[in-house]
Amino acid sequence: MEPEPFRDAAILIVDDERSMVRLMEELLAHAGYRNLRSTSDSREVLGLCATFQPDLILLDLRMPNLDGVEVLRRLKQQRAEAYLPVLVLTADVSRESKRAALEAGASDFLTKPFEQIELLLRVRNLIEMRSLHQDLRRQNETLEGRIQEHTHQLLEAEKLATMGNLLAGVAHELNSPLSVILGQVGLFAPSGEDPNARARIKDIGEAAERCVRIVRSFLTMARRHPPERGHVALNHLLRDAVELLSFELRIANIEVGFDLAKDLPLVWADDHQLKQVVVNLVTNARQALQDASPPHRLSLRTRHDAESRRVRVEVADSGPGIPSEIRARIFDPFFTTKPEGEGTGLGLALARGIVESHGGSIGVESAPGEGAQFVIELPVETPPPAADERDDLGTTLPVAGKSILVVDDEPAVASLLAEALSRDGYNVDLAANGAVALRMLGARDYDLIVSDSGMPVLNGPELYREVALREPHLTRRFVFVTGDILNPRTRAFLARTGAPQLEKPFTIESVKRVVRRALLAP
Ligand SMILES: Nc1ncnc2c1ncn2[C@@H]1O[C@H](COP(=O)(O)OP(=O)(O)OP(=O)(O)O)[C@@H](O)[C@H]1O
Ligand SMILES: [Mg+2]
Repeated sequence: MEPEPFRDAAILIVDDERSMVRLMEELLAHAGYRNLRSTSDSREVLGLCATFQPDLILLDLRMPNLDGVEVLRRLKQQRAEAYLPVLVLTADVSRESKRAALEAGASDFLTKPFEQIELLLRVRNLIEMRSLHQDLRRQNETLEGRIQEHTHQLLEAEKLATMGNLLAGVAHELNSPLSVILGQVGLFAPSGEDPNARARIKDIGEAAERCVRIVRSFLTMARRHPPERGHVALNHLLRDAVELLSFELRIANIEVGFDLAKDLPLVWADDHQLKQVVVNLVTNARQALQDASPPHRLSLRTRHDAESRRVRVEVADSGPGIPSEIRARIFDPFFTTKPEGEGTGLGLALARGIVESHGGSIGVESAPGEGAQFVIELPVETPPPAADERDDLGTTLPVAGKSILVVDDEPAVASLLAEALSRDGYNVDLAANGAVALRMLGARDYDLIVSDSGMPVLNGPELYREVALREPHLTRRFVFVTGDILNPRTRAFLARTGAPQLEKPFTIESVKRVVRRALLAP
């Protein structure tokens, strides 16, 4: 008896002699093969291949109408990829006919009259070969599928990386003009007597701050802006975020439930960014609920797990939920199921970027018909010791009688810095680039050099290196204005110098604080 898996192999017997066909049928059936077909008309072979789909063909060579070699030739033309073994049975042992059959695609020969055992052995070998071929093909197909999938993912990642770079680049470009707006607002506000003007300037300032936050969000998404951390009470933050959206939630008839842990510790996190995450989740829930049948419920829950030192925030809705086919992709940037103009597909990508940059994780659970539940986990971290917030240095009071050289190639930024500092009583000079600054530093002494890091003609790092060669004592008086933390070289340079930094977009307050701290530094 043949091994079980072989017995279902489909075997087609082709011989014009009916007695021969019967003999082989009996032989094979006796060995356990149970999927047999036969024909004594060789013209039927091609048709049977399509309907019966044999795993092996036993083929007589010498037949009327269409001889075996011709059948082989036609078979070869027809089957392109699959390996279909053909065992040729022939009484004609001439070399010539063997060569013709071999060339036409025969897999093996058996000379009539044959030994039963020999026939069975060849049949089994050929079926095994066919089965190996099929396994191989299946594996190749899976592999090909995987390669295609990976290629697709790679392309997506590439596209995203390019998009990310583009966004981050644009965001950075916006930092300089935003510094100017924020700074000018800061300088203007105190002198505004007219209450109308004051309200307007306040609006401008707030709008600019919003832009700053958007820019930071982009940079966070591209993982290029670390969170600005402080103590955050998550329960408050959840209420604030819902409050922000209360109008939309009311119109959509959504009932909001809070289940907030009383013992929730403060987390060391970026307040704005986390609020953005919650706003995105609540907005998604609201959009999912608005077309769903009532009741419309949104639940926000917080929990603390003292053991793992993590807090958990859950945002759940009673909407349609998320089909399992797309669940893996909803955090991908630009993945959206919403009509054009309604969703950009950035909400969850941004949320993930923010949560992960806080060392946390975000995921989704959604059983069919049970709504969606987003779960955020954040570590409860202790803040680093606040060495730089010592009281006397944290203020913005000017240090009397000091002279400052401002080096910046952007006139709007340069004059803003100069004006802010001279209003505080500092002696300020301006240099449009590093080369000019170097000449001025040769001519007189300054207590502080506030230098842009990226400039044409001798940039910040180059200026620093020149100064280090000529007047080493001055290197400790540098403050760098950076719009370019993107650039790893700039970052490495700044870390090496240990010089204080003013990151664009800066506020007048932060300029004053950093300048004071640098002037008072030992
Ligand atoms: N609460 C939810 N219920 C059902 N589906 C959701 C829910 N939240 C997200 N999704 C699905 O995830 C997709 C991606 O969400 P994401 O917030 O990233 O983008 P968006 O909402 O489509 O667009 P954007 O947030 O940029 O306006 C959505 O288009 C939606 O299909
Ligand atoms: Mg969204």
